[in-house]
Amino acid sequence: MAEAVRAGAGAGPVAPQAAPKAGAGAVATGPGVGGVAKPAAAPPATATPVGTGALPAAFAAEEVGRFAPLYPLPRLELASGRGTRVRDAAGREYLDFVSGIAVNALGHAPPGLARAVAAQMRVLTHCSNLFANRPAIGLANALLEATGYDRVFFCNSGAEGIEAALKFARVRARARGLAGRDVLAFRDGFHGRTAFALSVTWNPSYREPFEPLMPGIRFADYNRLEALDAALDGSVAAVVVEPVQGESGAIPATREFLDALRARTTALGAALVFDEVQCGMGRSGRLLAAEHYGVRADFTVLSKALGGGLPLAAVLMTEGASAGLAPGQHGCTFGGGPAAAAAGAFVLARVRRPGFLARVRRRARELEAGLAGLVERHGSLAAARGLGLLRAVEVAADAPYDAPALVAAARESGLLLVRGGERAVRLLPPLTVGADEIVEALEKLEAAIARLELTGGTRS
Ligand SMILES: Cc1ncc(COP(=O)(O)O)c(C=O)c1O
Repeated sequence: MAEAVRAGAGAGPVAPQAAPKAGAGAVATGPGVGGVAKPAAAPPATATPVGTGALPAAFAAEEVGRFAPLYPLPRLELASGRGTRVRDAAGREYLDFVSGIAVNALGHAPPGLARAVAAQMRVLTHCSNLFANRPAIGLANALLEATGYDRVFFCNSGAEGIEAALKFARVRARARGLAGRDVLAFRDGFHGRTAFALSVTWNPSYREPFEPLMPGIRFADYNRLEALDAALDGSVAAVVVEPVQGESGAIPATREFLDALRARTTALGAALVFDEVQCGMGRSGRLLAAEHYGVRADFTVLSKALGGGLPLAAVLMTEGASAGLAPGQHGCTFGGGPAAAAAGAFVLARVRRPGFLARVRRRARELEAGLAGLVERHGSLAAARGLGLLRAVEVAADAPYDAPALVAAARESGLLLVRGGERAVRLLPPLTVGADEIVEALEKLEAAIARLELTGGTRS
């Protein structure tokens, strides 16, 4: 039975406080933040000392000029990891609270995963979707049994999963004789970079270079019920929403909002699509974040953590949502291949082990309490929020540093974090994170904040 969530469970922003005045001085902000793009020197044999203010030597200088300039280069080169800890190419260890952006749910190199995938690869690595394969059937059965959905379509990435779900929703609308084909998405939502997924992604700087994109897309404010009347009418075939917005900084939907979306889409006959690419697979403390709300979507898209580091996504759907789908309409060469499916089955079995999600919820409460303490003690933080182990702190508008500077300073303290939205920094530890590692990460984060408050930090 789903556990009820209070509006924005555990996510209520703490009231903004004034940031303390800080002196001058700069902390290096790392690549792509503050315009740092200078190639680093070749990595030395020894580890980089903490707190030097310089880019770690392990930044991969040779990427610059060779890789398409789509990521801020050079980047820190990671070489190996175990559990929550990862080492860079120069041998320096970090606590990894990025987890490959919520992919490494079981941490780095989880015992047994390589064996399970290798065993499958030794007998059947790939066979295309012209043929069935046993690992995909096994994963489908386990996913459907665990989530209560009726059917699944496998593909490779979050964007592909959203792309497929929205295509299926339009097929469903046609099959049901609905007039509408439009899709309603939400401000600050992120759904991926392929054409349809990008079309429903809010950030104009992601969308505009590629316009014209898909027609028939409209946006409304997230968590604002009053906005739904104007946005939802008979021309809408689907509504796509993240139960917890990830990229924009760990913002949980309110229960009222998801309830209203379910009620209104049902009344109109439109499909409700939950994008659980980031918040699903246990990250919220439940297998699906939707379980916190007791709301069932017609489609739910999972990816990221599902493949244990191999590309894998699942579009889960009810029987009714699959209406109109027919052979040849959509497909995917690699989707649900035996090797990725073996990885998916491994991850799902671990996440479903008795006590696993209860442990995630315990760790989440510890992290939530620790972050609330940081907000109380540091005026440069405006808020802490999130659900489960998808959390963020928001840098105050008047803080003497910005979010990229905080990411860089945390890295200098030995903690890897990732931005979320304009002013937030996300904490996404592996779901297997230990209580001691949460304490250590909070200490490193506080050291980084204190240093930035003292030095004045930098703004990009
Ligand atoms: C909620 C959400 N949906 C979709 C995507 C796109 O996933 P991918 O990068 O695997 O295409 C992401 C990626 O961050 C995401 O967070």
